[in-house]
Amino acid sequence: MEFFDSKFFDHFMDPRNVGTIEDPDGTGMGGDPTCGDWLLVTIRVSDESIEDIRFQCRGCSAAIVTSSAMTELAKGRSLEEAMNISAADIEDSVGGLSEEKRHCSLLGEQALREAIKDYRTSKGR
Ligand code: FES
Repeated sequence: MEFFDSKFFDHFMDPRNVGTIEDPDGTGMGGDPTCGDWLLVTIRVSDESIEDIRFQCRGCSAAIVTSSAMTELAKGRSLEEAMNISAADIEDSVGGLSEEKRHCSLLGEQALREAIKDYRTSKGR
């Protein structure tokens, strides 16, 4: 990859789905204790699919970019499909990450899965 792909810059300059959903159906956190970065994800679920998703991130540029990309990958997907979105899928969607930034995409995978689990737990599933 080039140092930064244009898709990376696109998300960096215009992050998608920033914020939180009021009274969400599910909430998930992702974090990396080594760098201290964290990600909060809230989801609205309708008909077992992710109708809406928002994120708040306190982290590096790669964490913000991959969190934004993750929300685009997850929105409109069934919960089953969204549960299978991996850090590698997220990384691919922004054109790849450098070796030292690869771990940043894990926050999105982690927080999304936690939000879905939170929804399922609240519904007794
Ligand atoms: Fe911590 Fe990127 S350096 S998530």
